[in-house]
Amino acid sequence: MTYLSPLGYLLGVEGAALLRGFREGSADRAFVEARITEIRTLLDTPALAHAEGVTAEPGTVGTAEVYEDWAPHYDAPGNQMIDVEQPVVRRVLDGLPVGTALDAACGTGRHTAHLHELGHRVIGVDASPDMLARARERLPDVDFCEADLHRLPLPDDAVDTVVCALALTHVPELAPVLREFARVLRPGGHLVISDAHLLSSYLRPTLPRRPGPDGRPSLLDEYHRPLSAYLTAALPLGFQVRGCEEPRRPRGFVATAAPDPLPTHPSWDLHHWCREASAAALEDSPLAVVWHFQLDATRKGSPSNR
Ligand SMILES: C[S@@+](CC[C@H](N)C(=O)[O-])C[C@H]1O[C@@H](n2cnc3c(N)ncnc32)[C@H](O)[C@@H]1O
Repeated sequence: MTYLSPLGYLLGVEGAALLRGFREGSADRAFVEARITEIRTLLDTPALAHAEGVTAEPGTVGTAEVYEDWAPHYDAPGNQMIDVEQPVVRRVLDGLPVGTALDAACGTGRHTAHLHELGHRVIGVDASPDMLARARERLPDVDFCEADLHRLPLPDDAVDTVVCALALTHVPELAPVLREFARVLRPGGHLVISDAHLLSSYLRPTLPRRPGPDGRPSLLDEYHRPLSAYLTAALPLGFQVRGCEEPRRPRGFVATAAPDPLPTHPSWDLHHWCREASAAALEDSPLAVVWHFQLDATRKGSPSNR
């Protein structure tokens, strides 16, 4: 069980702001005293001090349910992760040869649409029927298929490019999925992966999800990894690193957060309670990681790589 407390989250943000300020040399006396004063104010604010938190049970909701809830809003403006990740992924995709591309865990078809515009023959695969329904509406000419990343419905050596965006956080082990990508890629093919950055997973609010079977709010299991984990999984399969970027959260985003007068559960809307601390803790910190791998043409045939 995890007790998600709005006040607890805000105190965590204050702490992260202080620790980062000490490390980066930006925590002068005025900044530190402002944080301590603000912590006292937060503790003494009745709306926060008496706001009930949420007791949530990890692992009682699956990705299918979470994306059923999220599908109608996924493409709405204001998803900061997408704002930060998309230009980096597109820049990588724009530099690749046009051919056959797989958008693995394509969701509502955000990157599928870009690959299609670039002239690729694209196949989109996702496990969520609700996300796929949006993708099919958006791109009626593209082949979409409901399938799992661990069992791609494609023969060996079928595609020139695989994109897997913001989805590997849902798989407990990277190696089996990357092995599937290596299997369907042609020798010399390209793999572009984006994922939430490990650091951002510690700083963002953990959100309670819809009630699980026991009627209590649930938490989605997510797997956030150090950069070494991607290399440990990818290099033995014959992938070579062509690029790695860690795009950062922009400055100024906290000021735009809408005030939530009823802090009933942790959410991004809480940041207005401590804007300066939120900016100091979060702004210009790595939000995503974007990898560009290329499959080594000479190692593809080895059975140990399959
Ligand atoms: C955050 S969304 C990203 C969607 C899209 N790639 C994008 O970047 O806009 C994550 C997607 O991964 C899909 N997904 C998660 N685990 C999956 C799995 N094991 N097999 C296939 N799709 C999966 C979800 O259904 C969801 O559509």
